[in-house]
Amino acid sequence: MLRIENLSKDFGGLRAVDHCSFEVPAGTIFGLIGPNGSGKSTIFNLVTGFLLPTEGEIYFKGERITGWPPYAVVRKGIARTFQLVRVFRNMTVMENMLLGPKHQVGENFIAGVLNLPAVRRQERENVKKARELLAMMGLERFENEYAGNLSYAEQKLVEIARALMTDPDFLMLDEPASGINPTLVDNILQHIRRLRDEQGKTILLVEHDMNVVMNLCDWIVVLNYGQKICEGTPETVSCDPRVIDAYLGV
Ligand SMILES: Nc1ncnc2c1ncn2[C@@H]1O[C@H](COP(=O)(O)OP(=O)(O)OP(=O)(O)O)[C@@H](O)[C@H]1O
Ligand SMILES: [Mg+2]
Repeated sequence: MLRIENLSKDFGGLRAVDHCSFEVPAGTIFGLIGPNGSGKSTIFNLVTGFLLPTEGEIYFKGERITGWPPYAVVRKGIARTFQLVRVFRNMTVMENMLLGPKHQVGENFIAGVLNLPAVRRQERENVKKARELLAMMGLERFENEYAGNLSYAEQKLVEIARALMTDPDFLMLDEPASGINPTLVDNILQHIRRLRDEQGKTILLVEHDMNVVMNLCDWIVVLNYGQKICEGTPETVSCDPRVIDAYLGV
């Protein structure tokens, strides 16, 4: 689904990602882990077109997408959430959801102003789809609630639901469980698992919580100082001395 090859990113003198290569097979829940500042979010930003790589290539479904702008990457079937929640607190949950879809007829200014039937039809379809996704995430009762009134965990689910409005095949989640009360983490995990099992999504996630990673991921890549130090199943990675060293800072 996704392949990154020899990817590097420099910020001034700092090499945030250093000759990183890995491949995410379709249908997996793939984990990207590593200590703070090891380059995880930078890789997300490179893949989704928010940053340009210094070196290396990114392929999605076999097509080279290196350097593509974010909208083009989204159109191709990649969606993401951010490490810090980015919902609009003063908008309702439904309004937040309707910011998500791609290929909007209403984006054509004239069509929008004239309120053409095609625009209205599409709006109705978007609302229907948003309702289905909210229901899938157990959020249907919040449709008309201001997003700012939801708990942090619920806001994170709204963000995932909104990302799904673009019909992605590949979903990138930056720390979906961080900052969430441990009793609610299971709920998020179940939703992520169902996205793979019932919706056929491929998922790449960054997460600090080892329980989450070990429970959820089929395969894990470990970064340290921007370099891939190892990859494997949760069992092999968690026993790898290089990983233990990186986390303990030895
Ligand atoms: N836009 C930027 N400009 C300059 N330096 C940056 C920028 N983005 C990230 N960095 C630096 O690049 C390195 C990697 O950052 P990154 O955010 O990718 O780490 P991370 O693995 O996501 O960390 P965390 O677990 O804390 O989220 C860090 O040293 C960070 O300070
Ligand atoms: Mg990060």
